[in-house]
Amino acid sequence: MTQRPGGDPLPMRPAVQETYGPVDLGATPLFGGGFINFGHWDGIDLDRVPTEHDRIRSQQALYHRVLATLAPTEGLRAVEVGCGLGTGCAMALQEYGFAQVTGMDIHPQQLDRARSAHADLPADQAGRLRFVQGAAEGMPFGDAEFDCLYSVEAAQHFRDPEAFAKETARVLKPGGRATVASFFVPDADPARPEQLAALLETFATGLDVAHSIPQWTGGLEGAGLTDVRVTSIGAAVWHGWDRWLSTMWQPGTWPRNFLRAYRDGMLDYFLITAARPAPVRQPA
Ligand SMILES: C[S@@+](CC[C@H](N)C(=O)[O-])C[C@H]1O[C@@H](n2cnc3c(N)ncnc32)[C@H](O)[C@@H]1O
Repeated sequence: MTQRPGGDPLPMRPAVQETYGPVDLGATPLFGGGFINFGHWDGIDLDRVPTEHDRIRSQQALYHRVLATLAPTEGLRAVEVGCGLGTGCAMALQEYGFAQVTGMDIHPQQLDRARSAHADLPADQAGRLRFVQGAAEGMPFGDAEFDCLYSVEAAQHFRDPEAFAKETARVLKPGGRATVASFFVPDADPARPEQLAALLETFATGLDVAHSIPQWTGGLEGAGLTDVRVTSIGAAVWHGWDRWLSTMWQPGTWPRNFLRAYRDGMLDYFLITAARPAPVRQPA
């Protein structure tokens, strides 16, 4: 159970609990390198069989794509929502000059892994990286604690995007910025959840939820965030992800349907950016 500030404990959805429980997905051949995301494959040659090194590089590159949207980040405080094994938090700290990075995840086993993976950071970094259990929909932080909030491939698991949007607006300082990267339904077609569940096991089991872009942008704006922008990065994600899947899964098996869902316009990979408005200064 994860405690919401001032609210009821929020139970973890069973599919999330099982998927990120006993097996460390970040160490499996499908993911690897302490990451669990589909990757951003620009600059990786997909005409040859990708190597394990390529695969890890693709996942790092997805973090670089996200963290670059938050620049300049020198001296700022950031929180990552759905940090998994915390590898992206360590990258943010080491490469982007944040003063402090907080990795938050709903799953206690992921946090155990994150803490042990990053237990040996140099002394000057150790006190600036912490891992905290909490849910996107009810974050265990005070108001205006962070300058930046980001999330990489976790939003497809959130059950309540509007609650996440409100929490994002609450924990960001005025002028703070947020970036969310994940796969979403591009339009408001009500048939999409059923179509995706027919193609992809992770949607059928309820692990992934068919959240739509209009629902997400509406939620962020409804929470008072501004400059809400949506960028498709699918061209850099889906072909590489499918190329990697092809090393383990035959054509016609369900994971290969991600590319089909993208090509058929049911699903795409997006960056969504938003900001908490800064107060307007009155002339003296
Ligand atoms: C696909 S993994 C991504 C991990 C990491 N961001 C990466 O790219 O390597 C999704 C993570 O989101 C976490 N998660 C799922 N639902 C969540 C929620 N409602 N609030 C916070 N974290 C959640 C899971 O426990 C899991 O660690």
